[in-house]
Amino acid sequence: MAKDVIVACDFPDRERTLAFLSRFPEEKPFVKIGMELFYAEGPSVVREIRERGHRIFLDLKLHDIPNTVKKAMAVLSRLDVDMVNVHAAGTRAMMEAALEGLVRPDGTRPLLIAVTQLTSTDRESMARDLLIREPMEAVVAHYASVAREAGLDGVVCSPLEAGRIHEICGAGFLTVTPGIRFPEGDRQDQKRVMSPEEAGAAGSDFIVVGRPVTGAADPAEAYRRCVRDFARGAELAQA
Ligand code: C5P
Repeated sequence: MAKDVIVACDFPDRERTLAFLSRFPEEKPFVKIGMELFYAEGPSVVREIRERGHRIFLDLKLHDIPNTVKKAMAVLSRLDVDMVNVHAAGTRAMMEAALEGLVRPDGTRPLLIAVTQLTSTDRESMARDLLIREPMEAVVAHYASVAREAGLDGVVCSPLEAGRIHEICGAGFLTVTPGIRFPEGDRQDQKRVMSPEEAGAAGSDFIVVGRPVTGAADPAEAYRRCVRDFARGAELAQA
């Protein structure tokens, strides 16, 4: 699996999303579409972006009973997206059902990635609200192993966790990592960040980059810098 940069298109509507994508004259970045845009515009915006030649990570984080998730995944798979996700908290049975639902008649399917614990959850809220009293690292590692056993392709995690996840789940288990900032950039609300180069060196398989690209004066140039730096970091990791 080629390492790649995914641009988080966190825009509220179709118009702004397509205006942003038209600022990439040469390349067709892999893009992430989240709940806000999908719920506002529906499947048609996914088809439109697909038709423009972009690969798509549809970040809807499904979490429901296995049968419902299986059927919903079959619908998403028909949109011809490249990556989708579920909450690992839905259990192994739900993840297995999601995987079954994704397989297309020709045998292909999008990559399926699990969310372990959201980065907005900390140890205190996990213990108080979810009655999970283990350390966060142990919970993330356990959820990743269950996702692996269920046959999923990888997890969303911090680049700081990528190495540990690969140790536990194997080098081929994908780590999709947000929390990326250029060294001189504003961290905004991200607390634990890595640069594209550091994330590459740490073993991330895909970096998810939003505002450092969407908010740049020249998004295409910022994207190219992410691609270059990430590849350089990955080469360092292999040297
Ligand atoms: O703008 P920024 O680079 O912070 O965007 C990161 C993207 O990754 C956003 O779409 C955000 O919702 C998503 N994300 C994240 N942290 C997680 C999971 C997803 O930042 N743990």
